[in-house]
This record gives sequence, structure tokens and C-alpha cells, in this order.
Amino acid sequence: MSLILETEKYLTDLMKSLDYDIEYVKLEKSKLPEYGQYQINVAMQLAKKYGKNPREIAESIVSALDNRFTNVNIQGPGFINVTFNNEILIDYLNKGIDDFEIFVDKPEKSRTIILDYGGANIAKELHVGHLRCNIGEAMRRLLKVFGDNSIGDVHWGDWGTPIGLVIREIREMQPDLPYFDESFKGEYPSTSPVTNEDLGIIYPRASARKKEDEKYALEARNYTEQFQKGVPGIKALWRHIVDTSKPDCEAVYDFLNCHFDLSYGESDADPYAEPVIKYLNDKGLTEMSDGILIMHIAEPDDNKEMPPLLLKKSDGAVLYDTTDLATIMQRMQDFNPDAIWYFVDERQSLHFEQIFRGSYKSGLVPKNVELKFNGFGTINGADGKPFKTRDGGVMSLKTLIQLVYDKIEPKIKVEITGQERIDIANKLTVATLKYADLLPYRKTDYIFDIDKFTSFEGKTGIYAVYTTTRIKSLLSKLESENVKINSVPNDDVLDILIKLTELPKNLTSSYNDVTTSYICEFIYDLCSLYNKFYSNNNIANEKNIETKETFIALTKLVYNTLSNLLDILGIEVVDKM
Ligand code: ARG
Repeated sequence: MSLILETEKYLTDLMKSLDYDIEYVKLEKSKLPEYGQYQINVAMQLAKKYGKNPREIAESIVSALDNRFTNVNIQGPGFINVTFNNEILIDYLNKGIDDFEIFVDKPEKSRTIILDYGGANIAKELHVGHLRCNIGEAMRRLLKVFGDNSIGDVHWGDWGTPIGLVIREIREMQPDLPYFDESFKGEYPSTSPVTNEDLGIIYPRASARKKEDEKYALEARNYTEQFQKGVPGIKALWRHIVDTSKPDCEAVYDFLNCHFDLSYGESDADPYAEPVIKYLNDKGLTEMSDGILIMHIAEPDDNKEMPPLLLKKSDGAVLYDTTDLATIMQRMQDFNPDAIWYFVDERQSLHFEQIFRGSYKSGLVPKNVELKFNGFGTINGADGKPFKTRDGGVMSLKTLIQLVYDKIEPKIKVEITGQERIDIANKLTVATLKYADLLPYRKTDYIFDIDKFTSFEGKTGIYAVYTTTRIKSLLSKLESENVKINSVPNDDVLDILIKLTELPKNLTSSYNDVTTSYICEFIYDLCSLYNKFYSNNNIANEKNIETKETFIALTKLVYNTLSNLLDILGIEVVDKM
């Protein structure tokens, strides 16, 4: 348990022993640091409740406090300011040198949580927005740190209209392929008729043509229906497209250090589509409307329009709603999870609200299983509009990666060359992209400002990695085995120790609010404090042996903390840069 949580428990018990009825006492970061490190702000609330003077109440609390605090004082009407005894801080934080867990206040029960993120659509190139898969990846890692069994699933978009469109366009280009010949009885070719580069051209062309040509659009939809139904030639072509496109998307996810425990797609949920429709039919929850099988999910007290779930078209094709319900059925059967969390663009929130309603209403998902939509904001360009290429097209994620790489690579020392230079530049590129994406509060849109994000100064990935790398190299030159913090020689040290006591709350907030911004902010603060300490104190030449040991132990503590935090974000530290 963290020092702060333990102290809060102590304070809560103390209130009980003083006969004050209060549910929980929070220790708050002091707004007046000159009076103390933390504040206990319960006197006002209790004064109201008991019709007493808050100052009197504060005084009664202060006189009951044990000696874990020093310099206890009351400010204003009854704000109690406290400062931890240095011994308490040292005892607690020395454990953190080898054990990051002292910063993690784990919940009593661990949960099995499926995280749905990534969600790339096969046959289309990943675009800038897919960078946000990093949020799901970081949360998967954070949940693990909190003791949960977190399972990441990429949930490929491999069962919908983009592939139908691509098939239609391939027919345009190569009409004689056997896939289009219904009377073909032989073996279909084992290699794909298109490469991934082809797909990069085919999809945009097909998508443009669909908007102008109704017949073309209809034929593309027909192909979607055909591979869904398993028409042999079209299904074989579908397989080729999936096998061609997927590795390319996987390589980008891999480059970004985004990993998935499951590589399922919408197509893997297809065997559950009919069963889930039957399940809803049997419950009497479906009806036909304009040739589409639907399920109403609106409630009388809704204050916005709540369209029905669309389950099946008259041609038999299943829809996005069906696939998501089928996937839920599959996940419930395979993993019986405590929760399913979705990390998807905020603009899909209505879809998920519908799906969740349908799942609970039908009993597909019991009420005690949490279905949670963690929407994320859009990545914008400097003009505040969705990030585009110079010519106004959708920017691919690869292009963005390259733009960042080109800014980062020249910042690496000239003496680092060859493959090593490339590897380091890659890692720093990933660090830059991830930190930029993980810093803003999850739901907010943000502007991708390349110059700002690739700067060595400010809240950037490269600043965080640079600081951590420098500490790592410093430690390699110092004797740091079994060192302990044994005193608080100056304020630079104290500031770092106090900052570290705040880490557990930051981690808990990230965990509860499903956003990594608290962690990113903390990393920045800790790096800045350490850099200040580093420039004010000469660690290697410190004459006082005890102080020197404290400096080294502190350095080790900061290093281990930073590397654990960066690891949660999926950012790797390098050896030099
Ligand atoms: N492929 C979808 C899209 O690009 C995102 C998938 C999100 N996850 C889900 N279970 N629906 O819009």
C-alpha cells in the first residue's frame, strides 16, 4: 500500500476514534507548500455537521496526530497542514528502489478485462487516427500493473464494405481472374492477384468511384454479401486481400510497440452472428422494419434519439451492429470477462451506447459485467481540422511516422552511426509519437504539432527518454549496488521525494479515468525535478559519503520509477542518443 493511502486510512480511523462520523479522509496536496506538504481538509465539513467552530475541530484533530508528521499547523478557518517526518519518507521510498509496486494501490479484486483497440480496417492503409491505438495498449499494460488480467484484442475490420469495394475494383482491373468465374471448378491461385502497394491505390480509387457510380456501389455491396455468405471465388479473393493487407498493418502496430493478445477480426465473430440473432429473436426483441431486422432499444425517458439496432438486411448481409453483438457473445463464451472496454473514436459513442443497451436488455451480458466505451478525440493539424497531407488527402500513419523520424534522426549524436543509429532513431520516433498521443486527456482532440513534439524541451517523449537515458548512463558510472537514501540533505532531494509520494494517486487516476495523461504529466514533473537536482548537485564528486550514497540511491529510485512508467506507456529507454 502506498504511503498516502496508508496515511489516509490512519486518518480515517483517527476520526472514528475521535467520534467524528466521516466516511473517508483524503490527504490533499498542499496549496500552500510553505506551510506543509499535504493538507487535511475535513474540519469545515465536520464543523457544519456538528455545529462547532472548525478551528476547534482542527485543533482536536491536530492534538491527536501521532509523530509521523512534523510542523503541523492550522491555517485559515481550519486547514490542517502537515509535513511528513523525513524518516517516514525515506523508509517508504527506499523500498521503491527495487519495487515499483509500492506506488500501486491495487484494487481488492482483480478483473479479467478485454480491451478492444486498434480496429484497423483491412484493405485500407492505417491513417493518422490509428496512432490512438497507443491508448489501448498503454491501458492494457497499466491494468496488468494493477493486477488485472487484461486481454488486448485488435478486432480487425475484415468483414465489411471496404473489402467488397476492393473486390469490385479488382474485377475492373482483372476481369478474367478465376475468382469472378462462377463456373470455375479448379483450384484458385495460391498467391494474391494484388500486392499491398496495389491496395494502397485500389481502395481510394474504388471509394471515390462508389460515390459517383450507383451501380458500382451496389455491385461492391454484393461482393461484401458474397464473401460473408462464403461464395467460393469471392471468399478466396477475400482471403488473399486479408492476407495481403494484414501483415502491413501488423508491422505498423509492431513498430509502434502496440501488441495484442488476440488477433481476432470481425470475421471470427461471424459464426456467432446467426446465434446472436436467434438469441434476440427467441427473446421476442426483434422485428422487421423496411426489410431490415431491427431491435428497439429506446427507453421512454431518453432525452435524445436512440435508433434501433440494425441486425440483418433482406439480402442476408450482416451489419456493424450485428458483428459487435456477435463479438460480445464470442467474448463472453471464450473469456467470461468482468469487463469489455472499447477504445474507439469518440464519434462512435452512439453505436456503442446502442450495442451496450442491446446487450444488457437482452441478457446477452449480465448487469455485473462492465461494458465501457472509452472514446478518444481526433488528431488535428495546425488548422484545428483533422490532420491531412499537404495536398489535402488523408495522412497515412506511415507518413506521420516518417515525418517524425526525419525530425528526430538529426538530433542523435553524430558519432552514433549505422544500424545502431537507425534503431535509436526508431525508438525515439516511437517515444515521440506515443508521448504526444498519451499526454492529452483521452477524450480531447489535439493538434499534432511536429516541431513541439520533437523538441528536447517541454512535455515530449524525447525529453522523457533523454532524461532517463542520461540517468541510466550516469548510474553505469557509479557504484549503486545496495545503496539507500539515508537523509534529506537539501530541498532538491526533498522535492523529488515528495513528488514520488504523489505517484500512486496519479496512477490510480489514470486507472480510474482510463487516461494516461496523469502518468505523462508525472513523468514530465519528475524529469524536471531530477534535472534540477542534477544541475545543482555534483553527485560523483560529493565529499560527504552519506550524502553521496543518498544521491546515488535517489538517482536509482528515479531511474527505476521512470523506466517503469515509460514501460506502461510502451516507450523504450535507449542506452545513448
Ligand atoms: N473497424 C472499426 C472502424 O474503423 C473500428 C472497430 C472498433 N471496435 C469495435 N468493436 N467496433 O470504424
